[in-house]
Amino acid sequence: MEQVDVVIIGAGAAGLFCAIEAARRGRQVVVVDHANKAGKKILMSGGGRCNFTNLDVGPEYYLSQNPHFVRSALSRYTQWDFIGLVAQHGIAYHEKEFGQLFCDHSSKDIQQMLLAELTEAGARLRLSTEVLSVQRLADYHLETSAGSLRCDSLVIATGGLSIPTMGASDFGYRLARQFGHHIVDYRASLVPFTWNSRDRETWSDLSGLATPVRVESHNGTSFSLPLLITHRGLSGPAMLQISNYWQPGESLIIDWLPQVDVTEQIVADRHRHGRKTLKSWLAQFIPARLAEQLVTRYGSNEVLAELSRAEVSTLSQYLNQWEFTPGGTEGYRTAEVTLGGVSTDNISSKTLESQINPGLYFIGEVLDVTGWLGGYNFQWAWASAWAAGQVC
Ligand code: FDA
Repeated sequence: MEQVDVVIIGAGAAGLFCAIEAARRGRQVVVVDHANKAGKKILMSGGGRCNFTNLDVGPEYYLSQNPHFVRSALSRYTQWDFIGLVAQHGIAYHEKEFGQLFCDHSSKDIQQMLLAELTEAGARLRLSTEVLSVQRLADYHLETSAGSLRCDSLVIATGGLSIPTMGASDFGYRLARQFGHHIVDYRASLVPFTWNSRDRETWSDLSGLATPVRVESHNGTSFSLPLLITHRGLSGPAMLQISNYWQPGESLIIDWLPQVDVTEQIVADRHRHGRKTLKSWLAQFIPARLAEQLVTRYGSNEVLAELSRAEVSTLSQYLNQWEFTPGGTEGYRTAEVTLGGVSTDNISSKTLESQINPGLYFIGEVLDVTGWLGGYNFQWAWASAWAAGQVC
């Protein structure tokens, strides 16, 4: 049986980064992954340009049953540390918007950077290798499709369930349960919504249309960002962000005119433009096809001068607080992340080590830590991996 200091299961963002840090400390590290390539999600991230971090990182951009859990790791390995590493490798990058940093060329730059660091640090990578069983005796014993391994420290970096075709599996959750850890209910998130059967026919004609909206969830969280209508449902940054805060069965409130108070604007406009129809009035603010759809569904296209005070109020409610009940989401097939996962109870926020099983660590997305869209999930992967990498 081969004996090493550290085995890391999962050669994604967190697993690779942890291996680099641990190997730099002189630990003998083996990274095992059942996929045939390391960092597949890095390659497909950010539309092929990897949004690798954000200029503004803090606990407020993360969801977890313990909202304080992320504090320690995020403050010890910051976005500036990772940006420094990227710069050191000569990787060109830019801020797209909202502090989101993307590679100028390709996500491959980040994957290659990690692999170069891994090789230099002396960690070994075993791809296309299944982990068949894990047992804790004096240390950890693993049976894999490529032989048996023993290690003092076992790091679980198997990520979440999104994009099963990229190697996602529930291995981390099963292993956590085997070792006495609780799993917080999990589901696909940062994910597009699907139509309910009533809306599908009416709205799918508008597929491809994008418009800025403000969307609000039941718990009062809101995002003012673009929405995209697709033939399957509603997508775009606004909807992906709010999906972190949506519970199945709940409705969402969409403000189609986030910059306009409909009541005030109609009252102001009807003196000057009283003969304008509702449709042409609306088309000043939103795409004409959307204006037409909203007016058709509203059921009346009166001229502004003829709208009663009660009608203006109903219209304002309709346009500024449009209620949308999703049929569901597109699920793990297109989701960027899994919300929920291995509970942070009984995991040290400083070292990411299990408080039930010394020597066992959980890092990255497998944990019940989910970031907003915008580079936050990778920053969590780097920071949690770094923290574990100092001690495992
Ligand atoms: P990750 O999923 O990266 O790695 C897990 C590894 O474990 C994989 O290599 C997998 O093969 C392996 N594994 C799983 N089960 C195993 C088993 N049973 N045995 C062995 N190995 C196993 N985030 C962000 O911040 N900016 C962005 O631009 C994007 N963009 C983006 C696009 C798309 C399409 C997706 C799906 C996701 C993103 N994300 C993102 C999210 C980001 O990719 C994600 O949060 C991190 O990759 C999580 O890193 P981990 O290392 O925890 O898991």
